[in-house]
Amino acid sequence: MRTFNVAVVGATGAVGNEIIRILEERNFPVSQLKLLASERSLGKSLEYKGKSIPVEVLNEDSFEGVQIGLFSAGGSISEKFAPIAARAGCVVVDNTSAFRMVHDIPLVVPEVNPEAIGQYKNKGIIANPNCSTIQMVVALKPIHDAVRIKRVVVSTYQAVSGTGKKAIDELEAQTRALLACQEPVVKVYPHQIAFNCLPQIDVFIDNGYTKEEMKMINETKKIMSDPSIAVTATTVRVPVFYAHSESVNIETEKKITSAEVRDLLSKAPGVKVVDDPSQKLYPLAIHAAGKDDTYVGRIREDESIANGINMWVVSDNLRKGAALNAVQIAEILIRDYL
Ligand code: A2P
Repeated sequence: MRTFNVAVVGATGAVGNEIIRILEERNFPVSQLKLLASERSLGKSLEYKGKSIPVEVLNEDSFEGVQIGLFSAGGSISEKFAPIAARAGCVVVDNTSAFRMVHDIPLVVPEVNPEAIGQYKNKGIIANPNCSTIQMVVALKPIHDAVRIKRVVVSTYQAVSGTGKKAIDELEAQTRALLACQEPVVKVYPHQIAFNCLPQIDVFIDNGYTKEEMKMINETKKIMSDPSIAVTATTVRVPVFYAHSESVNIETEKKITSAEVRDLLSKAPGVKVVDDPSQKLYPLAIHAAGKDDTYVGRIREDESIANGINMWVVSDNLRKGAALNAVQIAEILIRDYL
């Protein structure tokens, strides 16, 4: 079996750590694993397949002899180093928003548009979508193929791990402080996140939406190759550590019943339907955390319009929303292209 030299950029972060675990779990054919981070991580080592691998400081020569680079160290690092890696012959799968909307860079969810991966040849870069977008389009695609989705109204309930390690620590520290009747320290988010919901993810832009909301809107159209789908989003950070939940309302061109949606989704790749209200069964963040699938439940017809469906979509934001999706892209890349 052919093996590949793989670099993980941002290896010490929340997503980087998950990428290492997933490469290991899925037995990705790695010959050499290079773990890259900032000077702050100099001297650290991370475990991969029972071996301790030293973390190296990312620099312009890091990609010599590397065939695949999985980037998750923030947008500005990707902007600078992804083109450097690509020039060195390394195909980059980038988890940041740096290249997602660049027209000749593919934006890929393997269950939805695997055929776009071939466009990596344009720039040597493949973009991994935003976490909230990935789990939503995995659930939307089979419905769109069957009855064409005209409009999506989505509200998200997003876990703090999407912001990175600092945010996981902040939710824990604030929760402990408040339970001990102490003042919580607010650093990562604009307001206290413990025992709260923040209707702001990323910064606001001129139209009153946040950047996170615009990512869901624009990325959905690009991944589904259909600019005519109308999307509106409200993205909310909630005091959950792992897994994003989403309330998704869709309006379709042709009528589809909730039973038909349940049937379509139960056969869809990457989706598990958990939908038995009589048994109080529906997708929960605590169950999705650590799992690979996107869970869909609360499927019901929207009685306020002619052709409408409501559903509740939950997935682990660090896995399908980031690391797993990136590794799945790399798996197709080596199977079909490299
Ligand atoms: P480090 O741990 O050395 O700071 P998270 O999203 O969980 O906060 O993780 C961010 C990841 O990006 C970490 O692995 C972090 O490394 C890495 N990173 C941040 N800034 C840089 C940089 N200037 N060069 C290389 N890696 C960076």
